[in-house]
Amino acid sequence: MKAAILKETGGVDQLEVKDIPTPEIGDDEILVKTQVASINPIEIKTRKGNRFSEQLLQHDYPILGWDASGVVEKVGENSTAFKPGDKVFGIIGFPGFGKTYAEYFVAEEKHLTRIPDGVSFADAGASTIAAITAYQALKYFGKLGPNTKVLIHAASGGVGHYGVQFAKHFGAEVWATASGPKKSFVKEMGADHFIDYKTEKFEDEAQNMDVVFDLIGGDYIDRSIKSLKKGGVLISIPSATNEAVEEKAKKAGCVGVRFSLKNKKEDMQAIAQLLKTGELKPFIANSFTLDEIREAHKELEKGHTKGKILVSF
Ligand SMILES: NC(=O)c1ccc[n+]([C@@H]2O[C@H](COP(=O)([O-])OP(=O)(O)OC[C@H]3O[C@@H](n4cnc5c(N)ncnc54)[C@H](OP(=O)(O)O)[C@@H]3O)[C@@H](O)[C@H]2O)c1
Repeated sequence: MKAAILKETGGVDQLEVKDIPTPEIGDDEILVKTQVASINPIEIKTRKGNRFSEQLLQHDYPILGWDASGVVEKVGENSTAFKPGDKVFGIIGFPGFGKTYAEYFVAEEKHLTRIPDGVSFADAGASTIAAITAYQALKYFGKLGPNTKVLIHAASGGVGHYGVQFAKHFGAEVWATASGPKKSFVKEMGADHFIDYKTEKFEDEAQNMDVVFDLIGGDYIDRSIKSLKKGGVLISIPSATNEAVEEKAKKAGCVGVRFSLKNKKEDMQAIAQLLKTGELKPFIANSFTLDEIREAHKELEKGHTKGKILVSF
């Protein structure tokens, strides 16, 4: 099978598409023929070098990728939930390795969810790490509901465009930041108020928020706290290892959350249901082939993606 191998940590030239043996499965595993793998900033960070890279590079075939949709090819003896031909999607292996930048990947049953009838491989494959991050952060930590106000940063990106849709689904009023050209897109996703971060100070425009969903980090931590009401919650997604989020929020009488996603099947099933009803509409900015994996990484790395970038097989 064809797979994108990570040779060393570094630039996009470290990704090389090669022919390697199709993986064997154990009794508890499932072999899936990949239809779509979606690309996330975590894979860019792992390619460049982070806590995952050293371990991944020790594998015979270091392959990036966690998000995927595909068709079940083969099931292990102990696997009863799926059969060959089933259409599935999920966050594979996380927090281990999913190796979805390949024509086939191996998954445990618990990491696969059935794609509902009428939902495309592209929409399902896109609604994985980015979607579950927004869903879990806003549901479990933000506790959004009617009469709550939320400010969502980078509302036009992978996580943010799901965040706006989930926040509306939960009944909240949504303030959203992105740059001017993304205004109509963010409003289409459901945002009630748009703030152009290039020309406006969001902390002046969004006040007394119950929740700020921060997808930027850095000085956005201090600035976002100014937008919160007393007791409000700052959920900082890129700052998962930065204790300052909790300390700074506490000093201001607020709550700081350092978030990392949990790979929970019931949340993937909730996402599948919202895709089925059409309440959740992923936006696919661009779709690359596996041979174009370097271009896909370069595109996401620019930091201005609208919705999601995919690799289609
Ligand atoms: N801890 C976890 O479990 C977890 C899970 C998922 C993601 N993350 C992290 O969350 C972050 C966001 O991920 P993502 O997939 O959503 O990224 P993304 O798709 O690359 O985000 C791109 C978007 O960010 C917007 N943006 C850039 N700078 C901005 C600013 N200063 N203010 C407002 N918007 C801005 C861009 O809009 P313009 O083009 O208009 O600038 C663009 O639409 C990444 O750091 C990622 O690693 C963490």
